[in-house]
Amino acid sequence: MSQPSNRVFSGVQPTGNLHLGNYLGAIQKFVALQDSHECIYCVVDLHAITQPFSVWGGPEKLPGYTREVTAAYIASGIDAERHIVFNQSQVAEHAELAWIFNCVARMGWMNRMTQFKEKAGKDREKASVGLFSYPALMAADILLYRATHVPVGDDQKQHLELTRDIAAKFNNDFADQISKLGHGDEYFPMTEPLIEGPATRVMSLRDGTKKMSKSDPSDLSRINLTDSADDIAKKIRKAKTDPEPLPESEEGLKDRPEAENLVGLYAALAGCSRESVLADFGGKQFAEFKPALADVAVEKLTPISGRMRELLDNPDHVDSILQDGAQRARSIAGQTMREVRDIVGFLS
Ligand code: TYM
Repeated sequence: MSQPSNRVFSGVQPTGNLHLGNYLGAIQKFVALQDSHECIYCVVDLHAITQPFSVWGGPEKLPGYTREVTAAYIASGIDAERHIVFNQSQVAEHAELAWIFNCVARMGWMNRMTQFKEKAGKDREKASVGLFSYPALMAADILLYRATHVPVGDDQKQHLELTRDIAAKFNNDFADQISKLGHGDEYFPMTEPLIEGPATRVMSLRDGTKKMSKSDPSDLSRINLTDSADDIAKKIRKAKTDPEPLPESEEGLKDRPEAENLVGLYAALAGCSRESVLADFGGKQFAEFKPALADVAVEKLTPISGRMRELLDNPDHVDSILQDGAQRARSIAGQTMREVRDIVGFLS
């Protein structure tokens, strides 16, 4: 198979509470790449089950959460006919390539992953083996499609570096076989992360030093994609700030994490730069800035939550989008795995 030159892959875990960080850090970017790239967007349910039931909701919640992420993709503007939208567990090749990558990746590499340390918490002995080898599955997701670009939030940067390490080690370990079978000098590409713009790391509305996250016990810390206009306005009104007015330039945001976060949110929601937000609001108080921020947030998010609700009222339709996507994903993934099996030396 020839190497595509502009293929995007990314994924979101179906663990409930999809929030503004997921939207601005990832989904909004997925939408923007559709005209220039061939895109594959996945609901990564195999990743979701690496954590305890209390985090991913268990088997009763998972179908609803999987549909919720799918609905968020479509409602945000992803075109599932031109591109591919599917859930990971429907394409068995993800788990198969992840196994091979488990045998390529080194324990030392995995031991350095900060997300594992954060998610496992203090009692690492109780973490699942799947949580530890999570990045090998993520590398498999990306490399199964030989994706060239991966749009993600800043928290995934280390996982994408590891994906490149795995690709490089695979290419190197199996170099003779790769060239003998006519795949040139490298089978897997060195995937580029796309981590750009004013909202690569959206912070909690209650604490500007903590990432906005699905698992924060305080609902006031995040804006959920399903929040009503009133909830959005209330959460922004109650967002933590400092007593100073907004600065006139970006340097003035230094050591003001809450101000920096809110300015970044405005810029990402309004589609402008942080400088231009500060040109309009520099010198003004939060009492004036917050209602303006609430307006852009409501204007951007309420049509999305409305379309999500409509889609979720028709689960069969959502499921059919995923089934269709899985069928198309399987044809690419199947081809890669046939080649990888040959490269590794498995008899067919
Ligand atoms: P997940 O489900 O935690 O998050 C989905 C996407 O949202 C981004 N994100 C944020 N961006 C900015 N600010 C935040 N506060 C914030 N919180 C989350 C994440 O960076 C991510 O892009 N491991 C991935 C899922 C995954 C994946 C993949 C991604 C599995 N396989 C292959 C890319 C390619 C994750 O846990 O995402």
